[in-house]
Amino acid sequence: MSEVHVHQVKPEWKKDALIDKDTYEKWYKDSIDDPEAFWAKHGKRIDWFTPFTKVKNTSFNGDVSIKWFEDGTTNASYNCIDRHLEKRGDQTAILWEGDDPAEDQKISYRELHEHVCRLANVMKSNGVKKGDRVTIYMPMIPEAAYAMLACARIGAVHSVVFGGFSPDSLAGRIEDCRSDFVITADEGLRGGKKVPLKANTDKAIEIAEKAGAKVRNVLVVRRTGADVNWVDGRDLSYDDETSKASTDCEPEKMNAEDPLFILYTSGSTGKPKGVLHTTGGYLVYTSMTHQYVFDYHEGDIYWCTADVGWVTGHSYIVYGPLANGAQTLMFEGVPNYPDASRFWQVIDKHKVNIFYTAPTAIRALMGAGDDHVKKTSRKSLRVLGTVGEPINPEAWEWYYKVVGDERSPIVDTWWQTETGGILISPLPGATDLKPGSATRPFFGVRPQLVDGDGKVLEGPASGNLCIADSWPGQMRTVYGDHERFIQTYFSTYKGKYFTGDGCRRDEDGYYWITGRVDDVINVSGHRMGTAEVESALVSHPKVSEAAVVGYPHDVKGQGIYCYVTLMSGEKGSEELKKELVAHVRNEIGPIASPDKIQFAPGLPKTRSGKIMRRILRKIAEDDYRALGDTSTLADPAVVEDLVENRQNKR
Ligand code: WTA
Repeated sequence: MSEVHVHQVKPEWKKDALIDKDTYEKWYKDSIDDPEAFWAKHGKRIDWFTPFTKVKNTSFNGDVSIKWFEDGTTNASYNCIDRHLEKRGDQTAILWEGDDPAEDQKISYRELHEHVCRLANVMKSNGVKKGDRVTIYMPMIPEAAYAMLACARIGAVHSVVFGGFSPDSLAGRIEDCRSDFVITADEGLRGGKKVPLKANTDKAIEIAEKAGAKVRNVLVVRRTGADVNWVDGRDLSYDDETSKASTDCEPEKMNAEDPLFILYTSGSTGKPKGVLHTTGGYLVYTSMTHQYVFDYHEGDIYWCTADVGWVTGHSYIVYGPLANGAQTLMFEGVPNYPDASRFWQVIDKHKVNIFYTAPTAIRALMGAGDDHVKKTSRKSLRVLGTVGEPINPEAWEWYYKVVGDERSPIVDTWWQTETGGILISPLPGATDLKPGSATRPFFGVRPQLVDGDGKVLEGPASGNLCIADSWPGQMRTVYGDHERFIQTYFSTYKGKYFTGDGCRRDEDGYYWITGRVDDVINVSGHRMGTAEVESALVSHPKVSEAAVVGYPHDVKGQGIYCYVTLMSGEKGSEELKKELVAHVRNEIGPIASPDKIQFAPGLPKTRSGKIMRRILRKIAEDDYRALGDTSTLADPAVVEDLVENRQNKR
C-alpha cells in the first residue's frame, strides 16, 4: 500500500474549535462508558414541550426495538424555526442560489416561519392529518424545505422522492406508503434544462392508482411557469392556496418516537426500502453532528451541495443546520453550469465558510482543470467536507490543496440513510487527517469489524463494518415491514447493526471504508441495488435474463456494468444497447443509466442455478485472469465467451 500522508491538526484549526483532541477523547469515553448520562445531557440541546425522563431503551436482539427519549414531546419544525425567532428572526435561515447565477433569495427565520405555517394550514384544510404520509417530489427550491417543515409541524410523515426519479419509481414510493397528498412543482430547472415534474407526477399517480393507491390532492408550486396539465378537484395551486392561508399554525406536540419521515433507499434485494426516522433522537443527533463535525459557529454560512431527495439533504441541509439556527445554502443547479467554476463562484458570492460535497463532484471538477478554481478567491472557507462514497487520496489532496489552499481541514464523513447522521468522521480541531480515511467514530458510536463468521476482530484488521449499540439518529424500522428491518440489518451478525460496508482499521484505530460488500453499488454517490437495475432490464421484451455489477469508474466511483441474455431469436446490436439504456432510464431514472452492456449467450451459474457474481465482477474489472475456482459452474464454457467479449478491455 502506498504511504499515508498524515495531516496533523494545525494550530489555527484548533484555536477556536469547539472540540480539541482531549475533549474528543474524554467525551468519546464518557459516551461509551455511560450512554444514558451522555445522551441525557445532549438530549437537552433541542427544546422539549415535555422533557424526557427516559433516555435509551434499545435492543438489537429478538424483535429489535429502538427508542430514545421515549416519554418526551417536541416538534422538529418548532426546533428548526420558532425557537430561533426571538434571537434570530431577521437572520437568514435559507440562502437560496438558483440554477441561473442571476437568481438568488434570502429567507429569514421569520419569513420561514410564515411560509411554513401557511403551507401547514393549507395541508390541514385539505385533510392532511397527523400520521398521514405526504410525498414531496420537488426541485431544489425553498418550497421543498417549507414542505418538509410543514409536514413536521402538523405531524404528517414526509417521503421526499428525488426529482431525478422516473414516474415508475415515484409511483412505487407513493404506493408503498399509501400517500394521498403529493407536493410537486410545474417543472424543475437544472443546468439550464427543464425537468417535467408535474407531468411525471401525473403519470406516477396513474400507475399508482392502477395498483390500488389513491391520491387526493397534488399541490403544485410554480417554478418555471410552464403550462401544465391540470386535474380539477385534485390539483391545487401552491400560490393560490398559501396566499389565502393564515401565517399562524401551532406546532403539533409529537412524541419523540413519532415518525418524522420515510426515505426510500436501495438495498441488495427487492424493492427500495422505506427507511423510517422518528422525531426526537433524529433531531438531537443531526443537530449535534452538524455542530461538531463541521465545527459550526454562530453566524457561519454553511453549504451542503446535496439534493433534499437524499438523506444528506434531509439531515444536513434542512434539519441539522436549521435546528442550530444556521444559515443554510440551498443550491438549485449543478457543479458545471454555466461552467466548472460554479461551486467556487457561489462560495465567493455568498462568503461560504463551511462547504460539504461529494467525492464524485470533486473528481469531476478536478478533471476540469485547476484554472476554474484558481480564478476564484475561496478565502471565506474554513471547513471542507465530503460524503457519499470513499474518496481516493488524489482527489482528497486536490480538494485540500487546490480548493482549500491548505487552510481548511477536510471532514470525510461516513454514514448512511439508515444511520440518520454522521457516524465516523474527523472533527476539525481534534483529529489528525489521513486522506481516504473517515478516521474516528463520533460520540456514542461503537464500530466493530467482524469476519465472515461474525467473530469480532480486534486491533488493526479488515472486515465487515457493524455498529455494536444504538445511537439516537438510527432508523427505527422499514416502513410497513419490521421483519425486513430485522432481516436486513440484524440477522447477519446477531445483536449488531450490519452496515453492508467493508472496512479496515489501522494501527491508530482509524477506519477506512472500502465500499459495499453486498449487491449495492454506489454510482456518483447514488446508492443503487443491482437487483433494481436487473429487474428494469428484464422488463424489456427482448431481454430474458440480466446480471448487473459495479466496476471502478474514474469519476463516478463505480460504473454500472450489465450482462444481458436476450430472448431466443433476438440479436444484440449497438441499437439495442441504446434502447436498453433508454429503457432503464425510463424505468428508474437517469442515475441508473447503464455504462456498459455486454450481450451474453449465458450467465455463469452454479448447478443450483445461482449466478456467480464474483466472476462477473472480475470480468467487468478486466481482471479475468484471476477468476478463481470455476469448477462449481454448471457450464464452465460460458466464462470463455464472457471474457472474450468483455467491454472493459485495457
Ligand atoms: C457509502 C449517504 C466511504 C457507504 C450518506 C454507505 C461512504 C453508503 C461514505 C450510504 C464515506 C457514504 N466514505 N463510503 N465518507 N459516505 N458512503 O444511504 O457505502 O446514500 O454504506 O447515505 O454510501 O449511502 P446513502
